[in-house]
Amino acid sequence: MTFTLRDTSPGAPIGVFDSGVGGLSVLRHIRTQLPQEDLIYFADSGYAPYGDKTEQQVIARSLAIAAYLLDQGAKAIVVACNTATVAAIKALRARYPALPLVGVEPGLKPAAAVTRNGKVGVLATSRTLSGEKFLLLREQISAASQAQFLLQPCVGLVELIEQCSLGQDSNDATSMMLERYIAPLLAEGVDTLVLGCTHYPFVQDAIERTVRAHTASPITLVDTGEAVARQLARLLDAASLRRDGNPAPQLRGYTTAGVDMLEQAFAGLLDLHPPVEHLSV
Ligand code: DGL
Repeated sequence: MTFTLRDTSPGAPIGVFDSGVGGLSVLRHIRTQLPQEDLIYFADSGYAPYGDKTEQQVIARSLAIAAYLLDQGAKAIVVACNTATVAAIKALRARYPALPLVGVEPGLKPAAAVTRNGKVGVLATSRTLSGEKFLLLREQISAASQAQFLLQPCVGLVELIEQCSLGQDSNDATSMMLERYIAPLLAEGVDTLVLGCTHYPFVQDAIERTVRAHTASPITLVDTGEAVARQLARLLDAASLRRDGNPAPQLRGYTTAGVDMLEQAFAGLLDLHPPVEHLSV
């Protein structure tokens, strides 16, 4: 299916997807900045994590989900996943050149702007950190800013956060894992940490606790969810697709895993209770 701006309207919903519940950390900023929009959230939890999939697999999942969201009438799509953005945004743009499409990338540029000592730790999935698009971004920002980026793949963290969203108590395991990934970066002297995966804002408190256990110096955490919502608003305005005058904005969720998991994530992470359906896309 193709997408043309002529076939859509401001009343159409916005589609947001991630490999699982992480994209809800972006959805909350979209709801704040664009409160009148109808939203569809697609959690590909049946295929999570994307971080250990091949680039081809992540591209195939992203194209399948985008096609589904457009079938549902989406007027814009947010790839609320760093891993899928790094792997698949090029293929998505090639397939749907007219579609307002926003991706998420680790916030190296804002981190380079706020670091005081030029040392920045980047927490993300291995697939994100080894992706060509990310490596190019790192090269560009390093050249322009002299900032040094220390990359830390957080293998296993997405799975733990998905379990936490189910209400399973994995706090100790999460703290131990964060200690393992963050302590070496602090020992290297980073003063800024980029949360380069949309799941990580949901363990921000635990990250801050880990940091405080090692240093009294202020460490800045960088998350790009708010900037992504701002970019979405700009694209909708540019295409005259922003919705207003919607007194009862709708939100619905789809998941490729159990409905309970996404329902509990909506409730536990965002205190929301939208209808959720299982799909096998
Ligand atoms: N939330 C995804 C991201 O931003 C997680 C990817 C995964 O499933 O490994 O990268």
